[in-house]
Amino acid sequence: MSDWTDAVSTEEPRDLGSKKSLRPGAQCHYPSPSAFDRIARTVCRVGRIPRKELYESWEIVKRVRRHLRGTRIIDLACGHGLVAYALAVIMPSVPEIIAVDRRLPPSAALLRDAMEAEWPSLAERVRLQQGDVRSVPVLENDIVVCAHGCGSLTDRALDLALDAGADVAVLPCCSDHSRLDDGGLRGWLGGDLAIDVVRAVRLRDAGYKVWTQHIPAEITPKNRLLMGRFQRVEA
Ligand SMILES: C[S@@+](CC[C@H](N)C(=O)[O-])C[C@H]1O[C@@H](n2cnc3c(N)ncnc32)[C@H](O)[C@@H]1O
Repeated sequence: MSDWTDAVSTEEPRDLGSKKSLRPGAQCHYPSPSAFDRIARTVCRVGRIPRKELYESWEIVKRVRRHLRGTRIIDLACGHGLVAYALAVIMPSVPEIIAVDRRLPPSAALLRDAMEAEWPSLAERVRLQQGDVRSVPVLENDIVVCAHGCGSLTDRALDLALDAGADVAVLPCCSDHSRLDDGGLRGWLGGDLAIDVVRAVRLRDAGYKVWTQHIPAEITPKNRLLMGRFQRVEA
């Protein structure tokens, strides 16, 4: 029986956007057997990952699970890899998850070890890989995820997904207003939003069903989540 649920612990702490690392002593805030609480306790045991990252990752993964389909997940610019590992937990039917970053931080290996200790089957399904975002060829049945891909990195993730016709979810980060396409909309929308609107329209024009959502601003101010599912025309 799956232990997956949208709910987070009823005893969750305030200040969900805190950049302080969750420490082992905070495990008591996450007492239930739910997937979220088990992931939270595992993150606490690692002792290196900010609380913000736990809540942000959870908001992303539960929406990816709801809307996107795919037989493989690629977490581009994965950092510590929590998005990839949480997706592996709540999408148990996905056999392969690859988390790639050009410079994996030390917390990535610590999180991998802790997650594999809690869910041994993850060792077979999740691969952490050091390399450029282009080092993993994207296939049409993939789900490409990129959280806080700085500047044009978000657009590289979109390029890779679009080229393959793969599903995609990005949570854009800082935008370089001098280089990124704002569609001439910045006068009305401001630079960051204009750039994200152009990204969404780009997906729609390429045949994607598009979802534009916010994750709670108390977790992160960079909270626009853009998701697209490629609409295949059946022969
Ligand atoms: C702001 S962090 C986001 C990390 C993680 N996705 C998260 O949400 O916590 C950006 C990450 O992008 C990685 N990165 C930057 N350029 C990259 C590239 N060309 N290929 C792979 N990773 C890259 C950095 O090493 C860094 O870990």
